[in-house]
Amino acid sequence: LADGPLSGQRILVTSGPTHEPIDPVRYIANRSSGSQGSAIARALAVQGADVVFVTGPADAERPQGVHIVEVQTAAEMLSAVKAVLPVNVAIFAAAVADWRVTSVSDSKIKKQNGAIPTLEFAENPDILATVSQMKTGRPELVVGFAAETDDVIAHATAKRLRKGCDWIVANDVSPETGIMGGSENAVTVISDAGAESWPRMGKEAVAHKLAERIAAALH
Ligand code: C5P
Repeated sequence: LADGPLSGQRILVTSGPTHEPIDPVRYIANRSSGSQGSAIARALAVQGADVVFVTGPADAERPQGVHIVEVQTAAEMLSAVKAVLPVNVAIFAAAVADWRVTSVSDSKIKKQNGAIPTLEFAENPDILATVSQMKTGRPELVVGFAAETDDVIAHATAKRLRKGCDWIVANDVSPETGIMGGSENAVTVISDAGAESWPRMGKEAVAHKLAERIAAALH
């Protein structure tokens, strides 16, 4: 482990999408490259943290020097997160699917002369809210993300209170920003001290600045 301002800190990072199966060949998912989550895990490790990276099936390169746990579904992500606790800090950068299909077909659903299949969904557990609202063993610092397409700060501020996390990193993912899947990000960090907007910068730079903020908050 690297020696640095986060030495001795055990930090959980969730990242990537989750895939919720419909049948053996199909799934539903949110769009997520996993690149901001990977960059955050890497930056924390560089600053000396002991990082556990719980990732869904993302394209992004896996960070080096961290413990990696690969999962597919939201339910698997929640179990993996519970197994990783306790941690000092938990960062939830994953784009978890809000719903899963209630009855997953064991065999490929076939086309039936134009008859359209109907899928029934159940709500997935909210991993960020679950950890934020833990009565015992809650991480000292819980950081959530909010990808919004409009009224970013208002929605993210409400989300912070609803979920019970300490910070929300909000970003505008409307298509014209090119942020989704791109190499840059423009974020606003919302805490009980208010909202702080950072200039647009590379995802690696966002990750580095966030790691510095976390180190400062813990000291
Ligand atoms: O509610 P929404 O999905 O916009 O919230 C985003 C934040 O909540 C992110 O930090 C995401 O990782 C987390 N989340 C989660 N489990 C879910 C849904 C979202 O941890 N089921």
